Amino acid sequence: MKPYCFKPACCVKGVVSFAGDKSIAHRSVILSALTSGKTQIENFPSNKDCLATLNVFKKLGLRILYEKPSTVIVFGKGPYGLRAPKGPIFIGESGTTFRLLLGVLAGQNFQTKLLAGKSLSRRPMRRVTLPLRMMGATINALRKTHHAEPEEYPPVLVKGGNLKGIAYKMPVASAQVKSAILLAGLYAKGQTRVSEPLPTRDHTERMLKLFGAKIKVKGKTITINGEKKLISPKKIYVPGDISSAAFFIVLGAILPKSKITIKNISLNPTRAGIINVFKRMGANIQVIKPLSRKAASSEPIGNLIIRTSILKGATIKKNEIPFLIDELPILMVAACFAEGKTVFEGVGELRVKETDRINSMLKNLSKMGADIQVIKKQSSEGIVIQGGKGLKGAALQSFGDHRTAMSVIIAALAAEGNSCLDDIGCISKSFPGFLSSLKSIIS
Ligand code: S3P
Repeated sequence: MKPYCFKPACCVKGVVSFAGDKSIAHRSVILSALTSGKTQIENFPSNKDCLATLNVFKKLGLRILYEKPSTVIVFGKGPYGLRAPKGPIFIGESGTTFRLLLGVLAGQNFQTKLLAGKSLSRRPMRRVTLPLRMMGATINALRKTHHAEPEEYPPVLVKGGNLKGIAYKMPVASAQVKSAILLAGLYAKGQTRVSEPLPTRDHTERMLKLFGAKIKVKGKTITINGEKKLISPKKIYVPGDISSAAFFIVLGAILPKSKITIKNISLNPTRAGIINVFKRMGANIQVIKPLSRKAASSEPIGNLIIRTSILKGATIKKNEIPFLIDELPILMVAACFAEGKTVFEGVGELRVKETDRINSMLKNLSKMGADIQVIKKQSSEGIVIQGGKGLKGAALQSFGDHRTAMSVIIAALAAEGNSCLDDIGCISKSFPGFLSSLKSIIS
């Protein structure tokens, strides 16, 4: 545990750019690993989660070079070039690595045991194991009953091969589940069709197209043809991570006399939902896009300029949630500085992130004096924040969760009085440079 104390900041000014997007970086390694060629990945982030993905593919027998600070070279050996690992693979805390990898391993003719760290070992896996079993994979996981429902957790033992395509209606809106099924679909006989209850981030679909997969997207249904070889695009550029930028976007808007320019950020509409919502809340954000498309990126990229803003409350609808799922904690902070009521509808998935983020944000923001309530309506949960009164400094807790930690640090910088946070070590899961980037813009 690394505790840290913060005093309020007066204002922020400057230009910031961010390491590559975590979601896109995972996918760039995974797809490169399945080609028969060499792929150079630029602007690869050095956070713990993405390093976990590199480590896994090394354990599965691939040569991967990591040229610091941000270039990764993957030497693919084809779709069946992965080798059975020497022992169980420890994934650490990366849920994206764990779930997407299950999709790849479902197609492999060998057995792998995946182990997870403390927090990931408490996160649900049945949403992935269920459809992969329907496709023909043999999967054993730790079974427990949760709220009278059967659930599965790491460790997971998977033995793949001989998959057949399925038509699957996903019960939860999850890009990780969708991606795992599509990756398994690459190995399946025939077509695999997956339908989402709500659209989620589409990085996998975009990148599969870049790698030459036969994939079709029609509304909320994605179809992929199996047994089609992926072709390396040779180079991939990973745009800056909007989920990291989100903390700076909010800080720039809520502090007085502030202006920040954010460069080379991913502006994928299925991912950058925070921009639309925050604009609706009155944020002064200028979007400059598209920049000349960087070589071999399947994603739209642009710059943002954020200035001090007068924020007002807004309603964030259930169907918008998947496009800003990871930004909800920082949007809750923004809502505390917005005049009037902000309502977040259908946020139940926050309960199964690195920590229960409804609980972690409720506890921290309440301590800081926020008027925040959790509302339950049948099976759906929402959050209501009555803002406009600002926040005051407090003793804060990360709950071991990177996004809770970064969100409450932003809250502390805009609060009245000093705050201390019990642990900042967890931030390196997604954004090891967070504090130094912050320091570079605080005047
Ligand atoms: C991710 C999808 C989201 C998100 C996570 C990354 C991805 O999770 O919260 O941080 O890269 O596909 P879910 O699929 O569980 O919603």
